[in-house]
Amino acid sequence: PDTKLAGGHIFLTGFMGTGKTSVAYALSKKTGLPVIEMDETIVRREGRSIPEIFEKDGEKYFRRVETDLLREISGDRKETFIVSCGGGAVLSEENVGMMKKKGRVILLTADPETVFSRIGGDTGRPNLKNRNTVEDMAALMAQREAKYRAAADHIIETDHKDMDQIASEILQVLS
Ligand code: S3P
Repeated sequence: PDTKLAGGHIFLTGFMGTGKTSVAYALSKKTGLPVIEMDETIVRREGRSIPEIFEKDGEKYFRRVETDLLREISGDRKETFIVSCGGGAVLSEENVGMMKKKGRVILLTADPETVFSRIGGDTGRPNLKNRNTVEDMAALMAQREAKYRAAADHIIETDHKDMDQIASEILQVLS
């Protein structure tokens, strides 16, 4: 086995729009490791979209489902996964504890302008609702920043880089 990847699962975290999902697949291409996309998994299992889940059952319910899924992923499994986390997954200490125990946490960062150009106005992300300017969105980023950084084993900046380059940098820091 590739010794670089002997440290358990690779948890990709970061604010919405920092490229977690795209990076996960780029990393999968390089390593052959399977991807678990948490939001997608939740949507598939619930049979409804994230905005629908938030609207009907609230963010608290979504967070519970997210933690349950993380517990499942972090259970006794022989395989190693690349886990693309939802942007809010590391806001819970319980979640971070599970990630740290079962793998390494890679934080992806991007400037507010970059993130806004990627996902500003997206209606598929309830926590972006009513955040219609870079400043409004940057305020939420700033509010979460300390938690993102505290949870991270490694921090990778993504501005002006392509997915392949970001994936290579991750492999480098994991080695
Ligand atoms: C959230 C981020 C989303 C999704 C949900 C909540 C957040 O994931 O889990 O809309 O609070 O940051 P992405 O980061 O994949 O958009």
